[in-house]
Amino acid sequence: MERKANIAILVSGGGTNLQALIDAEKSGIIHSGRIKLVISNKAGAYALERAANAGISSLVITKKEAGSQEAFEDKLIEALENAETDLIILAGFMSILSEKFTSHFEKRIINVHPSLIPSFCGEGFYGLRVHEAALAKGVKVTGATVHFVNEIPDGGEIILQKAVEIQDGDTPEILQKRVMEQAEWIILPAAAEFVSSKLLLN
Ligand code: GAR
Repeated sequence: MERKANIAILVSGGGTNLQALIDAEKSGIIHSGRIKLVISNKAGAYALERAANAGISSLVITKKEAGSQEAFEDKLIEALENAETDLIILAGFMSILSEKFTSHFEKRIINVHPSLIPSFCGEGFYGLRVHEAALAKGVKVTGATVHFVNEIPDGGEIILQKAVEIQDGDTPEILQKRVMEQAEWIILPAAAEFVSSKLLLN
């Protein structure tokens, strides 16, 4: 059988980006990797149902149960290594990872962020807050970015970006949906395929 990169996806919430990745594997957009594991840091996240519906194994690992950030990350590393993970995708994963974790998987973790980095990113910018900030600033164009994850929040090398127009009357919720539909759900699967194919060459 042809070798594929083992992909693990880390989630915290609704999991629409996870769904986009599942659909992209089904349709063949992602063909150099296969989604092997989903890990949520929140019990009851709807993303876990999406994984179950697609027949993908999932785990819940919470910082609270682990007791500390370090113990939480150790548990994540153990689960990721047990699954022989080649590529980790942060798809709406709302927890900042330490340098110990990111350097363990150097150039093997990617994240989707709902703005054009370096605007509206870094600590405190996540989910709807990013869109609130873009609207408060009055920018006319926003978008999404997929980047490698290093020890600086949203600071790793950029892989793909896509711009999205802001329209009169946008609310954070309306803008979030447009950025997901027009950018995130397209560039995240594309980057997952690109990085998987590169990893197989190494
Ligand atoms: C997405 O918009 C994602 O880009 C964002 O959270 C949302 C998760 O939605 N991530 C961040 O803000 C990370 N800094 P989803 O659970 O439906 O994929």
